[in-house]
Amino acid sequence: MPKPIRRLTLAGADVKIYTSAASACEEAAHSISAAIEDGARLGKKVVLGLATGATPEPIYARLVEDHRERGLSFENVSTYNLDEYYPISPLDPRSYRSYMEQRLFAHVNLAPNRAHVLDGTVPDSFVKQHGEQFDRWILDEGGLDIQLLGIGRNGHIGFNEPSNLSVDRAVELPTRLVDLHPMTISDAAKDFDGEESVPRHALTMGVATILAARSILVLAFGERKAPAVARSLLGPITAEVPGSLLHTVSNKVTWLIDQAAASEILREV
Ligand code: GLP
Repeated sequence: MPKPIRRLTLAGADVKIYTSAASACEEAAHSISAAIEDGARLGKKVVLGLATGATPEPIYARLVEDHRERGLSFENVSTYNLDEYYPISPLDPRSYRSYMEQRLFAHVNLAPNRAHVLDGTVPDSFVKQHGEQFDRWILDEGGLDIQLLGIGRNGHIGFNEPSNLSVDRAVELPTRLVDLHPMTISDAAKDFDGEESVPRHALTMGVATILAARSILVLAFGERKAPAVARSLLGPITAEVPGSLLHTVSNKVTWLIDQAAASEILREV
């Protein structure tokens, strides 16, 4: 297993800094496959919270490889994805459902009724119930064992965007429909051939749902993530930087980041 080049405890969280994104993703994939194998040995289900975006792609590639080459079985696994654009068809190649199908679901033995992605086609009038139902499904499964998280350049987690809510209210946010932040829309433009085609709304797993996971792995790579990482790890706990809300449960949070994403924190510590 790749060793971090530096390991720090920041605001109670375990922060592991790697020379490359590939090494950090290898560590994350290893934690997930070990949890799946432990679960299988004990006859227990493993419930995973999954993320999309460029950051976790190597993790899924590794899990698919583990399935093909080492027989890692997803028979005892359920997954819940963090977010989905709204509205969007699951068949749209830019949907997060398509992303997950392409990178993981289609390549492993995960039953279709255990691979949950918020549905970008639910009618407006049903969106609230859909979010509530998603949270209930996770609770009924006994909660998330591991939540994979990326972070937006504005500090968002899932699509929980910066807001002026109090911390007490922010940490209670359930799974719901949200407006996307201008920076998120601009970052998504490359996937949608321009900003005009990016959906203005999304469904996101709530902050409360994320924080309730038994273990949270946050990944961030590259210089462009350095400010969000520093504001999340060194700044005050505030809903203006959703990543900082992770401090409220920091004893179960591990950050797996590369040197470039760590550049600002390394200047401070
Ligand atoms: C996206 C997703 C997040 C993701 C983040 C970072 O908008 N909604 O779940 O973690 O932004 O994306 P990337 O990994 O491509 O930088």
